[in-house]
Amino acid sequence: MARVFSGIQPSGELHIGNYLGAVQNWVRLQEQHDCLFCVVDLHAITQPYEPAQLAQRTRQMASSLLAAGLDPAKCIVFVQSHVPEHTELSWLFTTVTPLGELERQTQYKDKAQRQESVLAGLLNYPVLQTADVLLYKATLVPVGEDQIQHLELMREIARRWNGRFGEGFFPEPQPQLTTAKRVLGLDGQAKMSKSLGNTIGLLDPPDAVWEKLRPAATDPARVTRRDPGDPDKCNIYTIHKGFSPPDTLGTVAHNCRTAGWGCLDCKRVLADNMIAALAPVRERAADLAARPAEVDRQLADGAARARAIARDTLGEARRRMGLLPAASAG
Ligand code: TRP
Repeated sequence: MARVFSGIQPSGELHIGNYLGAVQNWVRLQEQHDCLFCVVDLHAITQPYEPAQLAQRTRQMASSLLAAGLDPAKCIVFVQSHVPEHTELSWLFTTVTPLGELERQTQYKDKAQRQESVLAGLLNYPVLQTADVLLYKATLVPVGEDQIQHLELMREIARRWNGRFGEGFFPEPQPQLTTAKRVLGLDGQAKMSKSLGNTIGLLDPPDAVWEKLRPAATDPARVTRRDPGDPDKCNIYTIHKGFSPPDTLGTVAHNCRTAGWGCLDCKRVLADNMIAALAPVRERAADLAARPAEVDRQLADGAARARAIARDTLGEARRRMGLLPAASAG
């Protein structure tokens, strides 16, 4: 059975882009694989952030994941900084990681460009990500396209470490790309992202869902009500695919192409289906929000289970690298 690892930054609440692009797939994967899903708070602090908000956002993200259907009886859900082995293995990996490879990473270059002074944590981001995955010897990493380069680097680090310290010890993980078309933001311009304010939150109440959907961008060719549209050029149709049943999709596509419906008619149907599909998620989230101590308990349990695996891998990696084991005191 392939072991699966994936991580998500603690941006607070999940939005429907995260849900359709990643989390829905994770919920499926937990049924067939040995999965770990991690809220990566140590990655979040490599960019400017507000310390007073981090803990709250971390718990909120974890709650959203549980509300969206990750089930601690079927997978391990935990917070990265609760398992200190991630940082230790990350340090060990920096010693086999070529600086040039880190400087070549597109994500690094993009983020560094937007910063006045570039910090070492940002450069080392993909090394920590490598430790996340290899600590559990995971072989399958469900991610978006923007992470492909990080996965290549991960395999490179595994090869170099293995070449020097132990052939075959770390596996070379492969990305699993979701086939779902990428959901754009409601502006139809950029990827859906909380920082761009173009999202629908997974826990938004029904009236907020409609308020946000109503003005959202559709096929730009539909200028007037009578212009026919092309569903394949419409971001709203992409979202429909995530929430509406196949026969509805057929009706939607037909009425778009023939201008039988206006965009508002189409959005009405989507809003209804989205609100119905997310009702149980909202309900579970409200339940968890009322019991923060219960969420923390589930995360502590997740961290303990993750740590049992992490300790074994790290202990063996330390041994192979020749570090002197600490004798037990007394
Ligand atoms: N870098 C990933 C992202 O921004 C998050 C992440 C951190 C991750 N560690 C990971 C993803 C390990 C997969 C595996 O989306």
